[in-house]
Amino acid sequence: MTHKRKKIGVIGAGFVGSTAAHWAAQKELGDVVLLDINEGAAKGKALDLFESSPVEQFDSHVTGTANYADLTDADVIILTAGIPRKPGMSRDDLLATNAKIVKTCCEGIKQYAPNSVVIVVSNPLDAMCTVAKQVLGFPRERVIGMAGILDSARYRSFIAEALDVSVKDVQGFTLGGHGDTMVPMPRYTFVGGIPLAELLPQDKIDAIVQRAVNGGAEIVKLLQTGSAYYAPSASAVQMAEAILKDQKRILPCAAELNGEYGMKGLFIGVLCKLGGKGVEQVMELKLNDSERAGLEKSAGAVRELVEALKKLQY
Ligand code: NAI
Ligand code: 2OP
Repeated sequence: MTHKRKKIGVIGAGFVGSTAAHWAAQKELGDVVLLDINEGAAKGKALDLFESSPVEQFDSHVTGTANYADLTDADVIILTAGIPRKPGMSRDDLLATNAKIVKTCCEGIKQYAPNSVVIVVSNPLDAMCTVAKQVLGFPRERVIGMAGILDSARYRSFIAEALDVSVKDVQGFTLGGHGDTMVPMPRYTFVGGIPLAELLPQDKIDAIVQRAVNGGAEIVKLLQTGSAYYAPSASAVQMAEAILKDQKRILPCAAELNGEYGMKGLFIGVLCKLGGKGVEQVMELKLNDSERAGLEKSAGAVRELVEALKKLQY
């Protein structure tokens, strides 16, 4: 069968992966291949999702597999394989286990989908992007981490709630690593075009920033058995859509810096232009002193993890 539709590979058929498959299929972004070492879970969830298509009226074929050959010619891969956090764990506690998993998955991607754009979701995100880039050997355009859209979505939701306005009218983003040092950017946050600082007092803004930074942990504490997946999977699929449709959207994503913000070779959250080639541009902002200090602190935390990775056998 020749493939006329776009093809999206989703690796990891757990909570984030299966929900990403759901959003991608329902948006008719292309055909979806769901891959997991647990073949039954991948096949069962894919079949169940495909069987919803006559009801939901989407023309996306969905298949499940444990075989990387089924990812052949995929346009975009969303990589979600890996263990999630349990209460009390930080994202960094996942480093050793997930580095091994990400490496195995990237070897499969490299063999069967060498022209794909890879969206990394597995945690700790920025460090897993480094593993993926090393194993894949792809150019920086085609290895991108998902975290900034999620962290920003949490931040934007809380602002909309505080002001009792539509989430659609809240524009804002976070920079930095996907961890406790992420840097929400109130100075660049607008509600219907109005600067946030004109609408909320500083103590309210500070509280929202803090809640966004702890957003992942807040969900882990409530769920007790895993981490967030609706907002994470929606965020990964927004990136996939921007790439598959060459939308050239400006979105916060983890990209490997090449001199931007004075940093080189480090994955960290920055504003990117996402289009058909993947990261088509990293948009460098003029930061004030405290924003720059925040970004540098966050880069330091990511660097520490990358150093820890170097000491691991994975
Ligand atoms: P989950 O446990 O529900 O699913 C993980 C899946 O990966 C399982 O089905 C497992 O069988 C599969 N898997 C494990 N090893 C594999 C391998 N070698 N090859 C293929 N599949 C393999 O976990 P969930 O909730 O889906 O989270 C997945 C990852 O995404 C976690 O590391 C989590 O921390 C991360 N995450 C990252 C976010 C971000 O903002 N970057 C947000 C949410 C989750
Ligand atoms: C989150 O932020 C656990 O990274 C995941 O929800």
